[in-house]
Formats: sequence, structure tokens, C-alpha cells
Amino acid sequence: MPPPRSLPRTLAARGALTIEKRPPFANFANAFSSRKAFFASRKMERPKKKVSESSVEMTQVVMPIDTNYLGNLAGGRLMHWMDLAAAIAASRHANAIAVTASVDSLEFKQPIKLGEVVIIKASVNRAFNTSMEVGVKVFSENMLTGRRVACNKAYFTFVAIDEKGERVVVPEIVPETPDEIRRYEKAADRRRQRLAEKASVAESK
Ligand SMILES: CC(C)(COP(=O)(O)OP(=O)(O)OC[C@H]1O[C@@H](n2cnc3c(N)ncnc32)[C@H](O)[C@@H]1OP(=O)(O)O)[C@@H](O)C(=O)NCCC(=O)NCCS
Repeated sequence: MPPPRSLPRTLAARGALTIEKRPPFANFANAFSSRKAFFASRKMERPKKKVSESSVEMTQVVMPIDTNYLGNLAGGRLMHWMDLAAAIAASRHANAIAVTASVDSLEFKQPIKLGEVVIIKASVNRAFNTSMEVGVKVFSENMLTGRRVACNKAYFTFVAIDEKGERVVVPEIVPETPDEIRRYEKAADRRRQRLAEKASVAESK
């Protein structure tokens, strides 16, 4: 015997009802242009997440294809890995697609050699409204000696977007350790500075 059908499906089978096929979350996307509106409408608090819930540690080995003609890791390759690690941390925090909005100054202090291990640590320092500052630190490690050297660091800003490309509000971040609290506090100053720089560049055009 075939399994019983629900009333809407029975009516649809008789042509008395049209079942509209919608993409997942279509109702959510139509009714609320942002998560902020969604939470506000339900008098819900913005969700909070710990830094440790989205932190990333990425490990790579420098292979010949990653090097420049001096046999050191190429800067562009390292920037790509840093962007990837930071994007994963931001997307994990937001549970949404995160696009790179800006990168603060990037300095290459130490060359990283062929065969060395590269450790990239990325974590969300602070979540604002739709944007997040992600701090990235890079270390190189010689596997034969175990020596680990800090090579560079940078701050990335990511913006969370939905499937339509519209910006979405991200959960708040909860810093717990003394280092996380220090990074959280300093992130607000850095944001002010980068937005002021953006505005002055826009004015000069
Ligand atoms: C990033 C992007 C979504 C921002 O869009 P926008 O229309 O400029 O958005 P707004 O000015 O309204 O700012 C949105 C948020 O981003 C932040 N932001 C925008 N430009 C920024 C910048 N240069 N640096 C830091 N934060 C920035 C704003 O402060 C705001 O944050 P908040 O919501 O937490 O307050 C848009 O510029 C974009 O899509 N860029 C391309 C992203 C991309 O393709 N990246 C890969 C590079 S190849």
C-alpha cells in the first residue's frame, strides 16, 4: 500500500492546489532584509560566539611550486594562504560567506625557505555589524631543528553576505583570554583608523 499523502499533497495531486517550490530560507530572505531585522522582530538577542569556536590553524609545507627564483616562499602565495585561513575563521564565525573587504599593511620580516613548514593562525578579533576583523599570524618551522620563527602578521576585514550578495549581521564575539580581550579592545581603534583612511581616499578622488 502506498504511504498516506498529506492533505496539501492530495489536493495538489487533484489539481486543486499549487505547491510553490521555493529555495531554502526563501521566506526568511523575503521577509527580512537582514538578520538584524529578523532578530529585532522576534525580540531576540544577537547570538554570541567565542573566539575559539572559529579560530583556524593552517599548516603548509613550502614546495618548489610555492617558491620564487631565490628558493623562498613567494609573497603572493603566502598572502593567498593567509586570506584563506582568515576567510575560514570569518565564515565559521558568521556562518555565512565572508568576502575580503580590506587588508592592513603586510610586512614580510623573514624569508621562508623551501621545505619549511608554514603555520598560519587566524582568529576573529572583533565582530562589528556586518564586518569582522580577523588577525592573522604566520610562523615558519624547520622540521629538522624544530625552530619556530614569527614571520609576519596582518589584519583582514571581512564582510558577511547572504546568497543574494546582501550584507548580513554577524554574531557578536566573546573574547575570553587576556590576549583575546586585548585584541578585541584594539580592534575598535584600528577600525576607526581604516574607515577614516577609506573616507579620505574617497574624498581625494
Ligand atoms: C566589502 C563590500 C561588501 C563592502 O560593501 P560596501 O557597500 O562598501 O559596504 P559598506 O560601506 O556599507 O560597509 C559594510 C561594512 O564593511 C565595512 N567596510 C567597508 N569597507 C571597508 C574597508 N575598506 N575596510 C574595513 N571595513 C570596511 C564597513 O565598516 C561596514 O562594516 P559594519 O557593517 O560592520 O559597520 C564590497 O565593497 C565588496 O563586495 N567588495 C568586494 C569583495 C571581494 O570581492 N573581495 C575579494 C577581493 S578579490
